[in-house]
Amino acid sequence: MGHEAELSGPDLANGVAVSELAENVPFLGHAHGEAVVLVRTGRDIHAIGAACSHYSGPLAEGLVVGDTLRCPWHHACFDLRTGDALGAPALNAIACYETQRRGERVIVGAKKSRVEPQPPPNSPAKIVIVGAGAAGAAAAEQLRHHGYRGPITLIGNEAPGPVDRPNLSKDFLAGAAPMEWIPLRIDEFYGELGIDHLKNETVAELNTGNRTVTLESGAVIPYEALLLATGAEPVRLPIPGATLPHVRTLRTLADAQGIIDVATTARRAVVIGSSFIGLEVAASLRARNLDVQVVSRDRVPLERVLGAQLGQFVQQLHQEHGVAFQLNATPHAIDDGAVELEDGRKLDADLVVLGVGVKPRVSLAEKAGLEVANGVVVDSMLRTSAPGVWAAGDIACYPQPFLADPVRVEHWVVAERQGQAAARDMLGLGMPYADVPFFWSQHYDVILNYVGHADGEASVAIMGSLEKRDATVVYRRDGRVAAVVTVGRDRQSLAIEAALHRNDAPAIEALLRSGTAGSQS
Ligand SMILES: Cc1cc2nc3c(=O)[nH]c(=O)nc-3n(C[C@H](O)[C@H](O)[C@H](O)COP(=O)(O)OP(=O)(O)OC[C@H]3O[C@@H](n4cnc5c(N)ncnc54)[C@H](O)[C@@H]3O)c2cc1C
Ligand code: FES
Repeated sequence: MGHEAELSGPDLANGVAVSELAENVPFLGHAHGEAVVLVRTGRDIHAIGAACSHYSGPLAEGLVVGDTLRCPWHHACFDLRTGDALGAPALNAIACYETQRRGERVIVGAKKSRVEPQPPPNSPAKIVIVGAGAAGAAAAEQLRHHGYRGPITLIGNEAPGPVDRPNLSKDFLAGAAPMEWIPLRIDEFYGELGIDHLKNETVAELNTGNRTVTLESGAVIPYEALLLATGAEPVRLPIPGATLPHVRTLRTLADAQGIIDVATTARRAVVIGSSFIGLEVAASLRARNLDVQVVSRDRVPLERVLGAQLGQFVQQLHQEHGVAFQLNATPHAIDDGAVELEDGRKLDADLVVLGVGVKPRVSLAEKAGLEVANGVVVDSMLRTSAPGVWAAGDIACYPQPFLADPVRVEHWVVAERQGQAAARDMLGLGMPYADVPFFWSQHYDVILNYVGHADGEASVAIMGSLEKRDATVVYRRDGRVAAVVTVGRDRQSLAIEAALHRNDAPAIEALLRSGTAGSQS
């Protein structure tokens, strides 16, 4: 988590010379006791709050793209003219201030009041959202944000409602984040927005013929428009002992609490799988002083996603923090006190965490007859094969503009933005979903920011120095940049994301040559 921006720079209520404001470069100051960023775009000068409403990232170190300001940490997007949160992971607007030119100076005035949204072009009689996770929760809020006043039912079966899932494997599991940080919203929030939030309810059936969903409790709820956002669930290995009580997976807050409970008395943990989640769990368990071994069939952790060199760097980081690796190793069985490998070795373990991937929860969609292939198949508007039904998040297999084949990704920001995009489309405000995929992963003091989408066949080149935490890793397919990971170069990550979005290959190459370093969260 970040912290509130401290006041620094000039008092902008007293004004600053316009000549000090370079075009499209955020300028940090303060006004009326709050940190404020000034941005000059052409003849306009905008003033908005300096702290991102996600984890308080420093917006003064972000990137201006058109009339938006992007956060350097996890790429939230804010409207410079209004402070509106245009793109997740920010769900709240930030303050926006009046600005006034007086001669050669600009003065920051009072906060602007929010403008009530106009009614949207379409207003479905009732909207139902199945799955109260990243995509579902973001969709529900987006509907209200765009002025939809009709009934919304958000149905979820995970206590306590929408949670900050990425935190579960990181600070929360490590004991560095309190419980209050985990729910995305306080209990009263949905009531205040007039959203009927059904907690602990499971949708058992979707009937696209008469447009209803049936809950396990038997209740039948009609819809005119429906979003399926049921996410994914961890894979359990089909080996003996995989369901023993000390063998855990991690998806929900309850899962994280369960791991913490076992970790309180456990001394030796084995993490099976060197996935992002597996490795983040390993780091968090080290923070709790457990001996940790990671067992993986891979030769190098994360090699298929990041390439061998970056994978080895991440492995080395974990080794420096005391994690031991058993690579090229396959677990054969688990018993009360050990994990047995296929080669006969036994690794002592009183806690085992399976981090071997997830599978999309598509059974509702399948039973309802929706087209399913590596997830629920959607078009560029995130519409499924059934009229009135959209899908978003980990279950959605969607056409990504710069990829030949439809893709399904498991990223927090993508899920939230797809939820928001589907909501807009329900209201007649849709645009083809074309955001560049982005995710981040944290390993001790190193944060990897990944933009784009590459697979194991991409060529990999490293620019800069991973050891110095100042590097760009470039993944190319057929000579074109398909994805980029940055370490310590947050602004470059934002700039490349924007250039990938424009499909501007020359700009991407120029950015790579310049190696612009940015802030690091
Ligand atoms: C521990 C962990 C750490 C992660 N860290 C990162 C990270 O650092 N960066 C990143 O980009 N991504 C990260 N991710 C991935 C990210 O959290 C997911 O991509 C994202 O949550 C997907 O959102 P979703 O809405 O599709 O699914 P979810 O957030 O899983 O939400 C789906 C919800 O639907 C509910 N549901 C399912 N079926 C039904 C039903 N029939 N009836 C009612 N409710 C139902 C589920 O219980 C769940 O609450 C992490 C994931 C995990 C598990
Ligand atoms: S802190 Fe700004 S996007 Fe996370």
